[in-house]
Amino acid sequence: MTDHNHTRAAAPPLRPFLKWAGNKFRLVERIAQRLPAGRRLIEPFAGSGALFLNTNYDDYLLSDANRDLFELYTRLRDEGKGFIEEARRYFSAEYNNEESFYALREEFNATSYSERRAILFLYLNRHGYNGLCRYNAKGKFNVPFGRYKRPYFPLQEMRTFHQKAQRAEFKCASFEQTMSEAREGDVIYCDPPYVPLSTSANFTSYSAGGFSMAQQQQLAELARDNARRGIPVLISNHSTELTRRLYTEAGGQCGATFAVKRHISCNGLQRDDASELLALFSPETSDTLASVEMTQSNT
Ligand SMILES: C[S@@+](CC[C@H](N)C(=O)[O-])C[C@H]1O[C@@H](n2cnc3c(N)ncnc32)[C@H](O)[C@@H]1O
Repeated sequence: MTDHNHTRAAAPPLRPFLKWAGNKFRLVERIAQRLPAGRRLIEPFAGSGALFLNTNYDDYLLSDANRDLFELYTRLRDEGKGFIEEARRYFSAEYNNEESFYALREEFNATSYSERRAILFLYLNRHGYNGLCRYNAKGKFNVPFGRYKRPYFPLQEMRTFHQKAQRAEFKCASFEQTMSEAREGDVIYCDPPYVPLSTSANFTSYSAGGFSMAQQQQLAELARDNARRGIPVLISNHSTELTRRLYTEAGGQCGATFAVKRHISCNGLQRDDASELLALFSPETSDTLASVEMTQSNT
């Protein structure tokens, strides 16, 4: 089994090529330290893949509900250099103006040609306001022009992603579906959209970034179920009374919290420096929990 998190100890972390709200680039070392060993790492909330880039498992399954991410990653993995060159054409003064941005955004929203969508998705990510990824109710990308002086083309970051992606499978799926496909030897890292910081929000009906409290709860239950069948799960989230309770009640072990300054939060609107929580659901402790529950139900 490969030593999954020590190969890059001395090197600075590798940066994802996409801007992504809630990305874990600044936290990869702390998270990787808590990730158990295994053969394959599964990320059901892959986003920009910060953990994927900075760990060393034999294989990866990167999954996300965002279909555009999946198309872009698949193209970059399979086409490499040709795809990078085509994407680079749009990072010039000719395309860095309001008129071009809105024309390309319109084209992106109108086409179902996946290769073209992948190229334009990268353009929009780097030229749109604050690197946000937001769609309207009809599923149309609606982030305004970002007015950057000279948007950065992430050439080296894309090359690195392309190389590493040769050991990755990509999927567009809900976290429930992805987590149900885990097998022995897998390790799951879950990075869901953050819970709201305000605890006054109604537990079940509040939905931040399209992710409801009922889904947060469902995720904790699936983490418990996976640990019981031998698959360790690590979840990160804001450290709040609510997340601590949610994970502890499902049998997770909440480690020390740490503060982090974020540039864009998951809903893209607020900047904050809330503390971060990592909860580990390990097969060993879940066995104990399951047997305690069985003993109780037998009495
Ligand atoms: C906090 S971000 C993940 C960031 C990632 N760890 C990184 O470093 O870039 C949360 C991700 O969850 C995805 N997501 C939201 N709802 C989902 C769902 N129901 N199932 C799967 N993925 C979902 C979003 O598209 C987003 O990419």
